[in-house]
Order: sequence, then C-alpha cells, then structure tokens
Amino acid sequence: MQTHAYVLRRPQGNAVLYSSSTLPSEADWLREAGGVDHQFLNHRDEAGPACDWVFDTFGAPLHCHELERDAIGKQCTVHGTFREEGYVLPDLLAIPTPGHCPGSTCYLWHGPDDDYLFTGDTVYLNEGRWEVYVSRGTTDEMIASLNRIAKLRFGFLLPGLFIGDVKDAQTDTSDVRRQTDAIISRLEQFLFRWNHSDGAYWRQGQGWR
Ligand SMILES: [Fe+2]
Repeated sequence: MQTHAYVLRRPQGNAVLYSSSTLPSEADWLREAGGVDHQFLNHRDEAGPACDWVFDTFGAPLHCHELERDAIGKQCTVHGTFREEGYVLPDLLAIPTPGHCPGSTCYLWHGPDDDYLFTGDTVYLNEGRWEVYVSRGTTDEMIASLNRIAKLRFGFLLPGLFIGDVKDAQTDTSDVRRQTDAIISRLEQFLFRWNHSDGAYWRQGQGWR
C-alpha cells in the first residue's frame, strides 16, 4: 500500500492535493516549480507535519471539509473549511463524498488538457481495480458518493492510495459508471448478507424492507 501527494502546476499558483511526509525533501523542486499557493486534503488520514511545513515554507493555507477540521487540527493547522460542493479555486471543484470519512472530499480539476478526479481514499486502486473502504462513514453514504462520482466527467482517476503498481487510471464516462456500479453491487451484497439473518434487507432506491 502506498500513499502520495499531487502538485497541480497552475499559472495562477500551484496547489498540493493530499499530503506526504516526503514533501520537505522535494523543497528545491517545489521552489523551481514556482512554490505552493494552496493545500487541500481529502480527509484526516492525510494530515501530518508536512502540511505545516508547506505553510511555513510557502505560505500555502490548508483547506478541508468542515467535518474533518477537528481530526486534521490535531495533526496540523487548518486555515479554512467548506461544507458544500463548490469551486475552491476557479478550476478546482470540491465534491464532498462521505463514506470513508464523514468529510472525505473529491476534487475535480479542470486541467490544461483534460479533467482529473482526485479521490483520496474515497476510491483507491488495488492492482488497478477501483475499490472503497468504508471506515468512519457509512455504506449508504459511500453508495451516494459513488453515484455522485458516476455523474462527473473526467479522464483520469488519481487516488491518494494505491496497492500494487497502478497508481492512476485513465477512464471515460461509461467506464466510470461501470466501475462505480461494480463497487455499489459489492456493497449491496455485503449489506444483504449483513442483514439477511434478521429478516431485513436493503436495496438501492428501496431502503430497508
Ligand atoms: Fe484514509
């Protein structure tokens, strides 16, 4: 399992998405690239001293979802939060996608040549397969988040976490729907097994029966 951060190189100011303990070792590269103007976290698991290092070195404030503020604040300084879907930069759309954590947030970047979806741990790659891990959120939240992701248009999926050698995925609209439907099907089967012994079952769009 590996995690990493991304640097969006933008004429209006670079942005770091997620975080990595190795960022300080990339100080010279970051300076040559024009520094860092913004930091955005998907969720609390990414928080660490490197976030404060980026702020102290480049003056880049850190933003995250309001529901991650307290947990992230134990690791580093949070400078701003948001609650709803909306543009946090003119070319970067924050999309709350709870399920892994209550404030997990995907970011859709309208890059110079394509649209890129940064999913953090909301959707990660396991040997190239799209997968989810419902950690501190709920399965219902995750299914709703996957259905939101399925409505987005993007050409690349860039998670914060990956297992194996495949760290990103080229995709398109029909592939996104197919991949998210496959995950939702697995989640629903899990819910069915979980509740069947009690005589209750759950189906998407129908709720509990
Ligand atoms: Fe995580």
